[in-house]
Amino acid sequence: MLRCKHMKILNCYSGLGGNRKKWGDVDVTAIENNEEIAKIYQDFFPKDKVIITDAHQYLLEHYKEFDFIWSSPPCQSHSSFRKNICVRYRGTEPVYPDLRLYEEILFLKYHAKCNWVVENVKPYYEPLIKPDFILQRHYFWSNKQVKEKEFKTDLIRKAQIPDLQKKYGFDLSGVVISDKRQVLRNCVLPELGLHIFTEASIIKNPQRERC
Ligand SMILES: C[S@@+](CC[C@H](N)C(=O)[O-])C[C@H]1O[C@@H](n2cnc3c(N)ncnc32)[C@H](O)[C@@H]1O
Repeated sequence: MLRCKHMKILNCYSGLGGNRKKWGDVDVTAIENNEEIAKIYQDFFPKDKVIITDAHQYLLEHYKEFDFIWSSPPCQSHSSFRKNICVRYRGTEPVYPDLRLYEEILFLKYHAKCNWVVENVKPYYEPLIKPDFILQRHYFWSNKQVKEKEFKTDLIRKAQIPDLQKKYGFDLSGVVISDKRQVLRNCVLPELGLHIFTEASIIKNPQRERC
């Protein structure tokens, strides 16, 4: 069992890279479909390969090329915030939950040979597939078990841009982007991303040539 610098990592729906922030000097391919967000990610992680495309399709076509996969599909359609606050009090129309989340979990579970993690928020409904572990405000599905660990709650509903920048370690003061607060709120806490990476990215087969 080992982890090596040369392992290839796929970071799907990369956002700003909150989950990736503390992974250090590793070989990461990041997939993000929003050009503005992808550009900011690239500035923060200049050595990562950033591809602007649909992560769901990319995962399907390229999953075999990686040693570790992290996927963070959009959470809005699953979140209790949208259902309980937006729909109930703000007049937002309800939407279908985006079941590509479960497509990815099932796909990776039955086809991926590498270690993988799919992350999402705790949904407003009983999850269709039971998560493998729960940390902070997130549900995780994975082929690895990750030890429990306490992380401070994010309080992201109240937090404003300066608090969020500090919490996640992204200074966006010179950056022009629509809905900066939301982009920051999407981040996984870097310490949490590291904890999972440390435990879940260990390669099963130490004979791999790249290591
Ligand atoms: C929940 S955020 C990811 C947060 C990230 N894991 C972090 O810790 O910073 C989801 C990201 O996926 C992007 N996104 C949404 N749909 C996408 C798609 N089909 N393909 C690629 N990226 C997508 C959004 O623009 C958003 O930045």
